[in-house]
This record gives sequence, C-alpha cells and structure tokens, in this order.
Amino acid sequence: MIKYISCLSLSMISTIASANGFFDKADINAGKALVQENCISCHASSYGGDGSEIYTRPFHKVESSAALVAQVRACSTNLNLQWFEEDEFNAAAYLNKAYYKFE
Ligand code: HEC
Repeated sequence: MIKYISCLSLSMISTIASANGFFDKADINAGKALVQENCISCHASSYGGDGSEIYTRPFHKVESSAALVAQVRACSTNLNLQWFEEDEFNAAAYLNKAYYKFE
C-alpha cells in the first residue's frame, strides 16, 4: 500500500501561482503528457476505465488546488519519478483543467 508523504514546500508554487488563477502559469500540455505516461495505469487498475474515476469519485480526497499539487507530489514521490516542482505543478494543472476545476 502506498504511503502518502506530505512535505509541501509552497515557496515555488506560490511564486508561479501568483497570477489570477492558481494554475495560470502552468503548461497544461506538458502536464497532460506526464500524467498519461506515468499515472494512469495504476488508477485504472483500481478504478477501471481510463482511471479518471479516482478524481471524480464522490468524496474524492483532493478539495483545493494546493491539495491537488500536494497529492500529485505524494504520488510522484512514491513512484520515485524524480519530478521537478514544475512537473508536479504542470501535472496538477492538467488534472485541474480536466477534472477538478478549482479556480
Ligand atoms: C501505484 C499506483 C498509483 C500510481 C502509479 C499513481 N497513483 Fe495516484 N493514487 C493511487 C491511489 C491508491 C490513490 C487513492 C488514495 C486514497 O484514496 O487515499 C491515488 C490518488 C490520487 C489522487 C487523488 C484522487 C482524489 O481522491 O481526489 C491524485 C490527484 C493522484 N492520485 C494523482 C496521481 C498522479 C499525478 C500520478 C502520477 C505521478 C499518480 N497519481 C500515480 C495510486 C497511484
């Protein structure tokens, strides 16, 4: 079972998220490619289909943009993907645009 680590350093995130919307400065396409490459198979094996139900299920865990970035970091850290903060931010921005739709 995966253990989630929440060691969130918000400094860079708040720098790049200083515009109007939290994810305004993100590269959505880069984030989409990262998620498609690294994140779907495991969610799909638990939830079926394309795995996206994990984001849209009732009582899903993530309830804010900052929590979404933190969860992306937890999953990518557990997978030892060695993502940069920018990668985490872009992946979170893609998931936000496609599923969560926070401001
Ligand atoms: C090895 C399996 C596995 C992989 C690979 C994986 N995840 Fe997850 N992820 C999970 C599980 C299991 C949960 C549900 C945790 C829970 O319910 O407490 C989850 C939950 C999430 C959630 C929260 C969903 C909600 O409830 O709102 C997000 C966001 C997420 N993962 C993003 C990612 C991203 C981004 C990646 C790729 C870097 C990734 N995951 C890769 C297993 C995985």
